[in-house]
Amino acid sequence: MTYAKILGTGSYLPAKTLSNHDLAKIVDTSDEWITTRTGIKTRHIAADNEKCSDLAVAAAQNALEAAGVDAAEIDLIVVATSTPDMQFPATATIVQQKLGISGCPAFDVQAVCAGFMYAITTANAYIKSGMAKKALVIGADVFSRIMDWTDRRTCVLFGDGAGAVVLGASDEPGILHSKLLADGNYGYLLQTPGWIANGAVCGTPFLQMDGPGVFKFAVKALAKVAEDVIAEAGLTPEQIDWLVPHQANYRILESTAKHLKLGMEKVVLTVQDHGNTSAASIPLALDWGVRHGSIQRGHTLLLEGIGGGFAWGAVLVKY
Ligand code: ACO
Repeated sequence: MTYAKILGTGSYLPAKTLSNHDLAKIVDTSDEWITTRTGIKTRHIAADNEKCSDLAVAAAQNALEAAGVDAAEIDLIVVATSTPDMQFPATATIVQQKLGISGCPAFDVQAVCAGFMYAITTANAYIKSGMAKKALVIGADVFSRIMDWTDRRTCVLFGDGAGAVVLGASDEPGILHSKLLADGNYGYLLQTPGWIANGAVCGTPFLQMDGPGVFKFAVKALAKVAEDVIAEAGLTPEQIDWLVPHQANYRILESTAKHLKLGMEKVVLTVQDHGNTSAASIPLALDWGVRHGSIQRGHTLLLEGIGGGFAWGAVLVKY
């Protein structure tokens, strides 16, 4: 049986940081409010000349190095983003060009904060079916570009960053099981309802959110998908070594851990330092866990995330 195994992980965070105290100088908020409600203390913000593809390439190079894989060996690139460099071409093809390679399929998937779950599941299917041998899967977002910096209800929550994994075909277990879901009926809870037409930006190009509505939906949906993916793989929650959740809000990820009866010492936590980096958040947390020595070869990981759409999913991995 062929598995997609994680050969290496990587990440990139822009140099500039924005703390809760910095934010309190631009909107009517406080470190106390943000920390209590979300767990976030600071986040990274891309420089004016840094595009989504720049963050993605830096994370990809970091992952290729960790995997000991040359960019020329990559035969699939999937980038999860909802803040691409431009309307088209896909950010994945820009990443491909910046990595100095050509020929292999390269495309974006757009499932907002669940983007990395969709991207890694797609790459897994390519590898299992023999359509690819070594895939680069990247989550990269620059949500600072779609923030209304006068709206305290949203601008305190997000940050910029990128994370990546190199997947390789292997006889040893890698991705064990995956489950993706979506329900467009709830799209109104979280959206950036802007588009380009006739040479102008139409609609609203800033992120809009019903915070409490998102919170309620996310807690329920994540608990169910996490439980289902574990049961469908024939495992039990006690067999999970690390929960690597989408880092939106401490209270949401705590609630998933509680539902699975996993102690918080088994949860990779980066939300305090990164904020919500959308599609980048899961691979960023994964790379953090690997580089800090928490996640070790042989560990069983549960990755899970949810975002606008609504779209959500979970992936079980033998690292
Ligand atoms: N600073 C100070 N006060 C604020 C701020 C802020 N940054 N933002 C909102 N408030 C005020 C509101 O105006 C409101 O005041 P009012 O009662 O006088 O009207 C009060 O705080 C309470 O507002 P709520 O929206 O009810 O606050 P809540 O406790 O629900 O917390 C939050 C808001 C943190 C957004 C929460 O709903 C949440 O985390 N939701 C999930 C959102 C999320 O994670 N989105 C990310 C994208 S989706 C995803 O990744 C899963």
